[in-house]
Amino acid sequence: MNSPENVMALARPWGCPPLRNVPILGDQYTSREFFDREWSSMWTKVWLLMGRSSELSQDGSYQMEEIGPESFIMIRQKDGSIRAFYNVCQHRGSRLLFNNEGISNEIVCPYHGWEWANDGSLSQVQDPEDFIDGNPCDDMTLVEVNCELFAGFIWINMDPECISLKDYLGPVWEEFEAYESHDWIRGPSSTVDVNCNWKVPQDNSCESYHLPSVHPQGLKWIEHSYKYCHFDWCEEGHNRMSIPMVTPSHSLTREELEVDDQLREMLEPWGLKAEDFEGREFETRQTVQSVKRETGSERGYQFDQLFDDQLTDAYHYNIFPNVTVSFAGSEYIGLQRMRPHRRDPERHYYDNFMYLSHGAAARIGATKPEERRFFKYGTDLMNREIADQDLAVSTGQQLGLSSRGYSGVRLAGQEGRVQRFHDVLDEYLEGSRP
Ligand code: FES
Ligand SMILES: [Fe+2]
Repeated sequence: MNSPENVMALARPWGCPPLRNVPILGDQYTSREFFDREWSSMWTKVWLLMGRSSELSQDGSYQMEEIGPESFIMIRQKDGSIRAFYNVCQHRGSRLLFNNEGISNEIVCPYHGWEWANDGSLSQVQDPEDFIDGNPCDDMTLVEVNCELFAGFIWINMDPECISLKDYLGPVWEEFEAYESHDWIRGPSSTVDVNCNWKVPQDNSCESYHLPSVHPQGLKWIEHSYKYCHFDWCEEGHNRMSIPMVTPSHSLTREELEVDDQLREMLEPWGLKAEDFEGREFETRQTVQSVKRETGSERGYQFDQLFDDQLTDAYHYNIFPNVTVSFAGSEYIGLQRMRPHRRDPERHYYDNFMYLSHGAAARIGATKPEERRFFKYGTDLMNREIADQDLAVSTGQQLGLSSRGYSGVRLAGQEGRVQRFHDVLDEYLEGSRP
């Protein structure tokens, strides 16, 4: 599975603890009982990527995000730190904020108007003398959760006893740091309400076996042969994949080789002409790497800590349980996050966010974060072809997963990361993690 070209992946192998091969059955995607076990034994104990710290630009800037039955407020403090609170009023339980982002002077509960300061303290209530146990402002605060910042993202953990985010991320930490992506700017971003279990697109994101059938348009600019890709997973529960890009696939025949329009678009920004690669199409990738290395910094890119293959290839990290961060040749991050619905196992919120590197943002003139769009699956498109194609197969798969005629997976070797994801989930459910 390892190509000699994947220098970086081979230089730092992740170890691949043995697979346990727990069964992966249809009812794990449909059953309310399984869904509830996931919530109590896993979601409430893991670090969750919930916000983007670089987008909280001033004192009082906040983001609000929901996951399962919970909702969290992440808010910039006067001292520059960010704190996270359950989005619930301590008077009688109303949700406090309903916007996904904004700037708050104070958080005013929509029900009886209690005023919560941005640091979670209670600053004002009506009729304080009417509380027999004393003024609530003297002893009540919002309920805080663990919050850490890394790679420009806000991570929270509901478990008061949790390990540090750095220990949780393991080898991911150092590899993300090398991209210096903490202030990459938000590009096209969508949240789609989809009728399938959160694990359906999560599984999809843990394998590239579907590339030839679901994303055939990539055949001439991204490797489709698993023999030239690298897959592994680490003790901490995460997995990764590197796929050569800016190259035709080795699954093409000699006669099929050409520089198509999409590959041409990857060459031209670097002053390279498609015609010059006729008959030597497999040299595009390394040529782009060389030109990027030579001229990238003057165009705003930061490559100092990256290996050559990271300048072109997809480095795709599945952070347990629900986030995929895919560095696309140091041009941008494609981030997918699957958030379970409040109570319906056959529904989730699929987030697809792009974060542009400085060089890519400069090239297209992007200066401020793009508006995040929200819609129900089927009413609109993300206008990101690959993500739209992935969701299109997810809803059909969900329908089949509840069939009496389906008895569980039969995985190819290159789908080992799917098995590993379910093995790790099972370890949470049985209590051997965290
Ligand atoms: S529930 Fe918030 S003030 Fe009453
Ligand atoms: Fe896909």
